[in-house]
Amino acid sequence: MQGGTTIVLPEHRGHRLGLALKVAHHQALLARFPDVEWIATATADVNAHMNAVNDRLGIRVVERCIELTRPVGRAS
Ligand SMILES: CC(C)(COP(=O)(O)OP(=O)(O)OC[C@H]1O[C@@H](n2cnc3c(N)ncnc32)[C@H](O)[C@@H]1OP(=O)(O)O)[C@@H](O)C(=O)NCCC(=O)NCCS
Repeated sequence: MQGGTTIVLPEHRGHRLGLALKVAHHQALLARFPDVEWIATATADVNAHMNAVNDRLGIRVVERCIELTRPVGRAS
């Protein structure tokens, strides 16, 4: 099962809604799939808020990735 991105509207950030959202998501996942043993997530290294939420949930780094992009079409 793959979830979407965790997002809190800018004017509501800093009230632990991001944490609450992620806990609710994990609870819903476990209710539907009780045999789930682990959850994978990905966050930019510079995303201090999301990494703070993940730390609090006990999520640990297992792999670091470099993402590469290039423009296509008229911009290339
Ligand atoms: C990431 C996001 C969902 C967090 O939502 P939020 O409701 O503001 O998060 P919280 O209030 O639960 O705060 C998260 C942590 O960041 C910390 N934090 C708050 N301001 C901070 C700052 N300026 N620098 C570092 N950490 C900060 C809080 O202390 C909290 O940690 P704590 O619980 O250990 O105290 C929200 O910032 C967001 O929507 N960002 C844009 C979308 C995004 O980047 N999503 C994640 C993609 S992987």
